[in-house]
Amino acid sequence: MGIQITPSILNADFAALGAEVARIPGADWVHVDVMDNHFVPNLTFGPTMVEALSRSTDVPLDAHLMIENPDREALAYVEAGCGSVTFHVEAAAAPVRLARELRSHGARASMALKPGTPVEPYEDLLPELDMLLLMTVEPGFGGQKFLDLVLPKIRRARALLDRHGVETWLQVDGGISLETIERCAQAGADTFVAGSAVYSADDPDAMVTALRDAAAA
Ligand code: DX5
Ligand code: ZN
Repeated sequence: MGIQITPSILNADFAALGAEVARIPGADWVHVDVMDNHFVPNLTFGPTMVEALSRSTDVPLDAHLMIENPDREALAYVEAGCGSVTFHVEAAAAPVRLARELRSHGARASMALKPGTPVEPYEDLLPELDMLLLMTVEPGFGGQKFLDLVLPKIRRARALLDRHGVETWLQVDGGISLETIERCAQAGADTFVAGSAVYSADDPDAMVTALRDAAAA
């Protein structure tokens, strides 16, 4: 699949999300950060808003659920039109069942790990996943500083995925910019979320291209 850039709208103008998404036609996916004020100390939007956004763009939606009880809530985001749904393993009661449910409803199934959650205990789950998301900041807010301490975990996850021979994408999220994307790509990530780097740029779509070029370098 190669390198994919998935801009996050978390730092975009929430009063004009349709127009904000139209500024990044070159994005591979639009990353939508769903927060419930319980799993993380911040609150964004739910399936109704995501469905409206999905109707306003042809770019597929990549939902990142930072919520308690994803087992109960995740399918609503498939119904809202998301092509990929990521749940946090720290919040899921039955991650294998949830991943299978997402796939059987036609979505890509993805699982996220916070910076302090190791990947090794989940090795046997990797074939159940279309994407593994390694957080490179503590989830909850855009604009935080990239955590270098996650780089060894990215390398270890890459090695596990290669060993299993699965096509699972390896996504990183948090503090990704022209400064940090190359290190992540070299460590083995192939799918990159970038929020503030894209939406604080004068030309967000040109930044998407620049990030893609930097990751491929
Ligand atoms: C943080 C979110 C991220 C966030 C990234 O909890 O999951 O997707 O929007 O924003 P930046 O790129 O600014 O770190
Ligand atoms: Zn995110």
